[in-house]
Amino acid sequence: MAFTLNVNGASHVINEEEDIPLLYVLRDTLRLNGAKYGCGVGQCGACTVLRDGSPVRSCVVPAVSLQGREVTTLEGLRAPDGALHALQRAFLAEQAGQCAYCIPGMILSAAGLLRRKPSPTEADIRTALDANLCRCGSHNRIVRAVQRAAAELAE
Ligand code: FES
Repeated sequence: MAFTLNVNGASHVINEEEDIPLLYVLRDTLRLNGAKYGCGVGQCGACTVLRDGSPVRSCVVPAVSLQGREVTTLEGLRAPDGALHALQRAFLAEQAGQCAYCIPGMILSAAGLLRRKPSPTEADIRTALDANLCRCGSHNRIVRAVQRAAAELAE
């Protein structure tokens, strides 16, 4: 079936099965590889993107259900001139990624948090990222990165 998806400010006509997950459309059709395939069942957070500014697991969300919504992927966080988002810069500055497979999902979950709570406490950050798994154990650096970005955005 054909449907329209708004991704990172651009409209795309998609021709796929009606139950295809958003993650597959992003990666395989639109070639936006920021969102990662981890578990495929909504448990790890590697595939997190924003739906109207709120984090969702793109591996379990049917793409067709996003018609009329705005989807933001890691690629869409950059400014039009290509400048990195404060969260992206902060994750680099804090060396928050080791293997970095989880980092796109972490950044999108953090972006959703900062959108609804610009000055989160450490507990807020840990709660917001609790369901994003990192097998490298980089959690403390990730929390520091979100704190750094929040501080920069507050200036
Ligand atoms: Fe979607 Fe794990 S790949 S939550």
